[in-house]
Amino acid sequence: MTQDELKQAVAQAAADYVAENAPQGCIVGVGTGSTANFFIDALARQKDRYRGAVASSEATRKRLESHGIAVFDLNEVSDIPVYVDGADEVDAGLNMIKGGGGALTREKIVAAVARTFVCIADGSKQVAVMGKFPLPVEVIPMARAHVARQLEKLGGRPQLRTGFITDNGNEILDVHGLQIADPKALEAEINQIVGVVTNGLFALRPADVLLLGTAEGVRRSG
Ligand code: A5P
Repeated sequence: MTQDELKQAVAQAAADYVAENAPQGCIVGVGTGSTANFFIDALARQKDRYRGAVASSEATRKRLESHGIAVFDLNEVSDIPVYVDGADEVDAGLNMIKGGGGALTREKIVAAVARTFVCIADGSKQVAVMGKFPLPVEVIPMARAHVARQLEKLGGRPQLRTGFITDNGNEILDVHGLQIADPKALEAEINQIVGVVTNGLFALRPADVLLLGTAEGVRRSG
């Protein structure tokens, strides 16, 4: 199976999970990225079951709307039974690195509201120790150099993602060379640096369910 076929298989499994576990007429949280895009396409086939969606990025909002799915502002929504999103790395504790697509802050906000976070990923994303994928950190532009110096003190090598501005008008530092032994502690420590909006570690609020696409089929954990 190709990587895209694995992504499509987990996206369909996630749409089935939502249909089985979320009430009819609810609002579904939708993530960002190529795997999430396949989920949007699968969700669209059952769109009459749902009232609509909350999007974790402008790109996702546009794709949902192109399928005729109503997109709600998160401030109008108090309950999201399920949020489905991809990951750049995921470990055995369902901690993740996210933000390869730069949508980490809105993703983390939607995940904070959601009751259940379903991570969808192809098998290449599963790791024993996170950190090979550079950790994205969203920064207020005027704080970029200060934040970069603090990240170097933590042992990382931050690189500005050139030519990229987030949906929130900020910049991304991709931090190379981190060995993430304690994801919860590192997530909290980086978020304490003044000028950081948030970082791409999702460990304080990890996924609840992982649907992993493998050649042998979709494996579920959690
Ligand atoms: C978007 O900002 C990310 O968090 C994505 O969820 C993550 O990068 C996974 O993307 P793919 O599904 O495209 O690999």
